[in-house]
Amino acid sequence: KYIVLLGPPGAGKGTQAAVLSKALELAHISSGDIFRENLKAQTELGKLAQTFMSRGELVPDDVTIAMIEERLSRPDCAQGALLDGFPRTPAQAQALADMLAKTGGKVDAVPYIAVPAEELIQRLSGRWTCRAEGHVYHQVFNPPQKAGVCDVDGSELYQRDDDKSETVERRIRVYMEQTAPLIAFYREKGLLMDVDGTRPIDEVSKTLLAAFGKEL
Ligand code: AP5
Ligand code: ZN
Repeated sequence: KYIVLLGPPGAGKGTQAAVLSKALELAHISSGDIFRENLKAQTELGKLAQTFMSRGELVPDDVTIAMIEERLSRPDCAQGALLDGFPRTPAQAQALADMLAKTGGKVDAVPYIAVPAEELIQRLSGRWTCRAEGHVYHQVFNPPQKAGVCDVDGSELYQRDDDKSETVERRIRVYMEQTAPLIAFYREKGLLMDVDGTRPIDEVSKTLLAAFGKEL
């Protein structure tokens, strides 16, 4: 199965992808995480991506599409994958359909996690991210057991530099302009599943898991 998680910045895509990918045994492909890993390793891709990410803008389609195509060609994605943060433009959605079609695959479902803008700002400004693996926490809604330390791997938690308030507002605007059109695109194909993302993390997980025949 190929599943695309859609939703604005801070909707909880990464949080839910961690639960769903484990339950459904699917590789979790997060375009944002791949860019951040490249930045940490100081690759050319990472340095290029950073110039867009730090401004809250999208990395150009050609670069992003090539990166995801390479990732999806690996053996762990042969039977399916959970995509988080890709596609984010109509051109990326078309490219995804084309690349999956080459091996007889297609997008099977698109859960859309909806959350209003005011709440997104609150979530992103309180988010803490793990330095090693990108695990996410929230200082109020999902605190780690020990402040500043990842529960899973003990590594340091940091605040993403695109989580400052001006950049968050820019990211939400970019989402409205460039990514929100994908809601109608996938709805017309009968693939969209509306999910109320304003509920507590566990309840959103339950809804998503139930949609794929699993329990929390
Ligand atoms: P990316 O890393 O994909 O960021 P994003 O889409 O902005 O998504 P976030 O990671 O901010 O949020 P999320 O929905 O995963 O929420 P989370 O689970 O963390 O992209 C970053 C940048 O990379 C982009 O701006 C762009 O420059 C570039 N990029 C990436 N993909 C690209 C592409 N395809 N094309 C071009 N450029 C691309 O949750 C947020 C917070 O809320 C956490 O603190 C969490 O604990 C908390 N929380 C989660 N769920 C709940 C809940 N139900 N109740 C209360 N709190 C909750
Ligand atoms: Zn971690």
